[in-house]
Amino acid sequence: MAIRLGDVAPDFTADTTEGTLSFYDYLGDGWGILFSHPKDFTPVCTTELGGFAKRKAEFDKRNTKLIAVSVDSVDSHKRWKADVDEVSGGDLNFPIIGDEDHKVADLYDMIHPNASDTLTVRSVFIVSPDKKVKLTLTYPASVGRNVDEIVRVLDSLQLSAAYPVSTPLDWKDGDEVIIAPAVSDEDAKEKFPKGFRKVKDYLRFTPQPNK
Ligand code: BEZ
Repeated sequence: MAIRLGDVAPDFTADTTEGTLSFYDYLGDGWGILFSHPKDFTPVCTTELGGFAKRKAEFDKRNTKLIAVSVDSVDSHKRWKADVDEVSGGDLNFPIIGDEDHKVADLYDMIHPNASDTLTVRSVFIVSPDKKVKLTLTYPASVGRNVDEIVRVLDSLQLSAAYPVSTPLDWKDGDEVIIAPAVSDEDAKEKFPKGFRKVKDYLRFTPQPNK
């Protein structure tokens, strides 16, 4: 069954390039990003894995673990890693799940039969520390993902988890945020001491509170 926002992210145990692990144990009490790759030794996936690996420090800073899955064996992933490292000039520094039996792909509904019977689509799941699914993204095999967008969403999710705010169109870290409509003007004055500007009763902007 499809996984929807707010669902509990299913736990699993799987063999990976970094040994056998339980998803929940791997995430610990931090955030996690699980993302699928249609197949090993394919061009777009190779650029993606290298790209995520190069930016791992940004995910570490956000207390967020990366884990990829591809429906090939761990041995194949290990051979592929050499190519990814060579092409990216980096080090693939997070685990890739071996999923020949499609256990994880099926659990997370990553195979969309009308796209392909055997390969996964490019799924992204962001999981919060309480193991709830906070974001789902689905791209076709032909479109590589955008790390900037995933970091941007993570920043927004982490901000909304800490403060009663949401983020507007094209928001990026450091921009003004929107005060939740449920917060009264009175409470907003206390919660957001930098002040706020009111465009409508339901649309109030305030400087990003954690900056
Ligand atoms: C790719 O990563 O380039 C790719 C993977 C599966 C199907 C098509 C393209």
